[in-house]
Amino acid sequence: MIFLIAFLALSLLAGVALTLWGLLQLARHRKAPKVNAPNTISIEDHEALSIEPGVLLNTLWAHLPNAECQAGECGGCKVQLLSGNVKWVQEPVVDVNRGTHFLACSCVAQTDLHCRIPT
Ligand code: FES
Repeated sequence: MIFLIAFLALSLLAGVALTLWGLLQLARHRKAPKVNAPNTISIEDHEALSIEPGVLLNTLWAHLPNAECQAGECGGCKVQLLSGNVKWVQEPVVDVNRGTHFLACSCVAQTDLHCRIPT
């Protein structure tokens, strides 16, 4: 009988502890700061696109039919940056003027972007 009472008491304590832990996690999650992720990339002569998570090639693949390697080697995803900022997440192998262009397979957006796709 004493074992049954001890078991029930421990189960009750475990339930209370798990509930408190869950409430703490919920409160912590609600306090997480919101990150204002860049939203759009506009390409000259096209409508603005919502930026997909990850490298910019995830968003621009339909506009970059020559993007073949996804490794910064072929240059087929080279885009002229007219305004905005990108972050290079992969070192390019191909020669790129980072002041005016980016490789969509190697960069992520840091702001909304306006760009031109070279013809
Ligand atoms: S896909 Fe080849 S350099 Fe980006």
